Amino acid sequence: MNLPSFLWLWRIAAWSMGLSLFTYFLLAISGTWMLYFRSMERPRPDILRPLHLILGSILVLLILLLLGIGIVGTLGEYGKLGQSLHLIFGITVVVLVLISAVSGSKINRYSWLRFVHIGTNLLLLLGLISVTWTGWTVVQKYLP
Ligand code: HEM
Ligand code: HEM
Repeated sequence: MNLPSFLWLWRIAAWSMGLSLFTYFLLAISGTWMLYFRSMERPRPDILRPLHLILGSILVLLILLLLGIGIVGTLGEYGKLGQSLHLIFGITVVVLVLISAVSGSKINRYSWLRFVHIGTNLLLLLGLISVTWTGWTVVQKYLP
């Protein structure tokens, strides 16, 4: 397949990544807000938890979409995976976002998961930065 034929796919990747970072930012805000109300022992606004859950689901879907685009695009281009560090960072981010989603949704039942949730999310920020950086670097190969 010729190189430019995949450009549109990487363009979708770039946009989805922008959206993912934005969603992460909103999750950090709504999460910190919940933490604040809990530590002040004040009842929190009803909207906060559903909002955080919807944003969380959007982030998971976006990351899975990016994983799909990455794998389909790379297989289409080279016929095999493992072209760069981007693969390792990509898989790490997928694993982290899934741990975050599972731990978050069980915080009610096991409160120690709160630390897992917050910890993975801090790592996730580093992961998102690495995957954006490496993705941006490999995408240069495809630019005309
Ligand atoms: C990946 C998708 C995510 C899902 C499904 C999710 C889900 C949840 C759930 C269900 C809770 C518990 C709410 C409650 O106490 O009833 C929670 C709490 C929280 N989440 Fe998330 N979350 C996600 C991502 C994130 C991200 C990316 C951040 C930060 C960058 C974050 C930060 C927090 C914080 C700070 C809390 C509050 C914990 C507390 O009250 O002590 N979450 N999340
Ligand atoms: C969470 C976000 C992302 C995930 C999970 C992800 C995942 C992947 C995976 C698993 C591959 C296969 C890599 C290989 O086998 O070497 C890949 C390839 C690729 N991804 Fe991503 N990706 C993400 C974000 C991005 C972004 C933001 C860009 C840039 C716009 C991008 C551009 C590419 C390109 C150009 C390739 C082809 C690999 C190459 O030519 O070396 N990705 N991605």
